[in-house]
Amino acid sequence: MGKFYVTTPIYYVNDKPHIGHAFTTVAADILARWHRLSGDDVFFLTGTDEHGEKNQKAADAKGKTPQEFVDELAVVYKDVWKKINISYDAFQRTSSATHEAAVAEFVSRMEKNGDIYKGDYEGWYCTPDETFFTELQLVNGKCPSCGREVKKIREESYFFKLSKYQEKLLQYYDKNPEFLSPSFRADEIKNRVKDGLKDLSITRTAVKWAIPFPSNKEHTIYVWVDALISYLSGIGWPSGKSDSNNDARAYWPASVHLVGKEINWFHTVIWPAMLFSAGIEPPKKVFAHGWWTVDGKKMSKSVGNVVDPVEMADKYGADAFRYFLMREKPLGEDGDFSEKALIARINGELASDLGNFISRVVTLASRFDGKIEGTPELNVHLNAERINALIDNQELSVALEEIWLFLKSANKYVNDKSPWDLSGKELGNVLYNLIEAARIISILISPFMPETAVKINSQLGVHAGTLKDCRFTDFNGKITKGEHLFNRVQ
Ligand code: MSP
Repeated sequence: MGKFYVTTPIYYVNDKPHIGHAFTTVAADILARWHRLSGDDVFFLTGTDEHGEKNQKAADAKGKTPQEFVDELAVVYKDVWKKINISYDAFQRTSSATHEAAVAEFVSRMEKNGDIYKGDYEGWYCTPDETFFTELQLVNGKCPSCGREVKKIREESYFFKLSKYQEKLLQYYDKNPEFLSPSFRADEIKNRVKDGLKDLSITRTAVKWAIPFPSNKEHTIYVWVDALISYLSGIGWPSGKSDSNNDARAYWPASVHLVGKEINWFHTVIWPAMLFSAGIEPPKKVFAHGWWTVDGKKMSKSVGNVVDPVEMADKYGADAFRYFLMREKPLGEDGDFSEKALIARINGELASDLGNFISRVVTLASRFDGKIEGTPELNVHLNAERINALIDNQELSVALEEIWLFLKSANKYVNDKSPWDLSGKELGNVLYNLIEAARIISILISPFMPETAVKINSQLGVHAGTLKDCRFTDFNGKITKGEHLFNRVQ
């Protein structure tokens, strides 16, 4: 049994969550649930990034104080996560007192270690991304990341000696190849670091909705420095107190920070350098996932194609939505969301492959009055170890494919054995194999589709199992026929 600490980015609360936020959060939830099944001691952190200009502007536009505004949005986030069954252990908010104290302590340590100096910053700033750019980095005068307007900033600022950590970072990447995951994104980061690092402006004088810089209160702390420290404040660093009252400091270093590819740099360069500076071990892995387009287009409010996870869960069920997000594309790659593709997977893989299988098996078994026992035959198609290894490697879509291979071989077994023509011991044996397969499938899909697993278990009359129970053994459940798991969508 090991410790497993997984995080999502903490999200800006300028608006309600969309499918992009849901994607990262569902993926983290599945990793957390899987590791719980495998007996690990798991801590799963999510939260909200509440300071900075972007949130302040959104509050201004609604005529609210930033605190009122972020209080409301933090609730919206929690409600959405509840709706799609996110099993986080703690939800850290950056406007909380515990977080603010952690940031002040962290930055003071960096300063004590001689890594912060005063200077003048001049450059460009993208408020939607809360990111500084140099003139050279701009593309046609716009933000190179999101394409939106940038503004010129010239102000006194404190700088973090990021440049000092170039060698140390490169050494860390070399010694810890998993840190930069997936591996196809590693070279880009390494090459940029090899090209040289510029010191980072980490305080602002013009931004008021932020944490004061401890040694000069005229300045506030750059929102990204503030936000990254949530991965520590969320587990109670340094004092043992956190928003959720969890003293979970022993979970550090994080096993994996799951992030979108656009914020990989912050997590794989700035964050470990900050940790080196404060004398704290870096996380073991940062996994940068790809982005969703919607019906082939970049998702944006102006196009009007922003996908609302609550609407999807209401329309198709939280499980179907979660399943689709994880099955449609490899975690690391970009992919396209469309309701048409979602419906195709619901009708094919969920209603047909999974739903019909459970329904057939439970119907047959509930009519059988003999003993459901026999010799394992379907077990040869189950590769639980491979599925475990895939999930350990964040290959969630391939893991689902592998689970479906097992499910399909169970469906084939029903057809091959024609249990409706059998009786007595022979039928008992076939049913034994099918029911055990159903029980194991329920365990394997439970991190992906927790509601469905509960429904299957209740029809089989068994308790929720763990990964250890993913083997053919004696069946002791009491079968009760229930409703279809998934309805076909027209
Ligand atoms: N507040 C920062 C993160 C600080 S972490 C210390 C931030 N927040 S955000 O609200 O913009 O959320 C960023 C995350 O949203 C990305 O990492 C990614 O997980 C997700 N996505 C936003 N749009 C997305 C898509 N279109 N597709 C997939 N995920 C994307 O950045």
